[in-house]
Amino acid sequence: MLDEIGGAVDWQALDAAHHLHPFTDHKSLHEGKVRVITGAEGVFLRDGDGHRILDGMAGLWCVAVGYGRRELVDAASRQMTVLPYYNTFFKTTNEPAVALATRLAGLAPAGLEHVFFACSGSEAVDTALRMARVYWQTVGRPEKKIVIGREYGYHGSTTLGASAGGMVDMHRQAGDMPNFVQVLPPYWYGYGSQMSEAEFGVYAARQLEDKIKALGADNIAAFIGEPLQGAGGVIIPPETYWPEVNRICRENDILLIADEVICGFGRTGRMFGSETFGIEPDMITTAKALTSGYIPLSALLVGDRVAKVLINETGEFYHGFTYSGHPVACAVALANLDIIEREGLVDRAASMGRVLRERLRAALGEHPIVGEIRGVGLIGAIELVADKRTRRFFQNRGRTGMICRDYCFENELIMRAVRDTMVFSPPLTISHEEIDLLVARAARAIDQTYARVKHLVAA
Ligand SMILES: Cc1ncc(COP(=O)(O)O)c(C=O)c1O
Repeated sequence: MLDEIGGAVDWQALDAAHHLHPFTDHKSLHEGKVRVITGAEGVFLRDGDGHRILDGMAGLWCVAVGYGRRELVDAASRQMTVLPYYNTFFKTTNEPAVALATRLAGLAPAGLEHVFFACSGSEAVDTALRMARVYWQTVGRPEKKIVIGREYGYHGSTTLGASAGGMVDMHRQAGDMPNFVQVLPPYWYGYGSQMSEAEFGVYAARQLEDKIKALGADNIAAFIGEPLQGAGGVIIPPETYWPEVNRICRENDILLIADEVICGFGRTGRMFGSETFGIEPDMITTAKALTSGYIPLSALLVGDRVAKVLINETGEFYHGFTYSGHPVACAVALANLDIIEREGLVDRAASMGRVLRERLRAALGEHPIVGEIRGVGLIGAIELVADKRTRRFFQNRGRTGMICRDYCFENELIMRAVRDTMVFSPPLTISHEEIDLLVARAARAIDQTYARVKHLVAA
């Protein structure tokens, strides 16, 4: 692109001058060069320097159907022509919002038949937490206010979401509202090596029970948890974990919120992570794959228990957004769900996920710094460790992951580093050949990382 006097636009300089990025250390960003993403097709991104990068993260866990889907563009264009916007506040609605709410009610686990729309995962979480508190107020138990989450949990970046999550740095900067606490995550590889996986699942769940006893069930509104903890490092709970959490929430009369912003719509090989892990939630938050990231939209699915009270007893729920039920976003979501269903992407996530893990294990299972390769559906993680035998992490936690992430980029692969855990969640459309390419590039990046950190690795 040319500027007004015919010179090439220096996007990188303008970005450094004017653009504040999310979750970014700007000083260190400006010391290097920002990468300008200029286009995308299928599972590949293009950047301004001519690289063709395999997007092993589907953007930020969201581009389920892959890039360049004309159908979604056409759905947006059609809806923009007919009705580009109107709100859903003034006793008004629009057809795509109703059609999508109806469709989601049909897809959701039994009993979750009501839908509240927002624009982002964070807003869906914020809505769930406010709805939980309003529910308890309405039924005459206003003292039930505390929300329990988990360490390394991520529930978005509004102040409520950050407070519910377990990211210490976020708490330190802003997200430290009262009445939020966190308990141990079901991170067997990291915390559970003295127990079997099944034992550790029950142990981690009982940490929740202990916390409830300590705080008093009468003071607790809800437990919120991701079916698997994505941003925390793709922490996949042992099979014994969620059934125990179901029991604990039920026995203590605490609402259970499944944050499916990453898991929803096929990522784990079932339509919802709640189905994969046997969760019995009162509410489910969704976003990301709902529109495959083509346009912002989130949906909170609300179960009968809360919905009936909210509808029949609460009166006005003082909450909502200008773009709740945005007709264009809802039209895109409907077209996106058509693709997911027509192409069988949910089953495909299950089968291709198995292929990806097999190939990663064949290529990297014996690698000196690879401690574990785990996954479910098309989401997974590779733990990089200093001592594979004893599961000892590197001392300067996060440095090795960052080195590996940079080598991935050099090898035209996007994988994200969470501490020293490399995480991946490619588009659900990824092919066998693309999986081979992903594995080859990941293996090269991990070899290069090993060469840099070899002196820190147990012999
Ligand atoms: C589980 C979970 N909840 C909430 C969010 C926040 O979503 P958003 O960034 O759309 O606000 C995320 C984002 O990654 C997430 O992974």
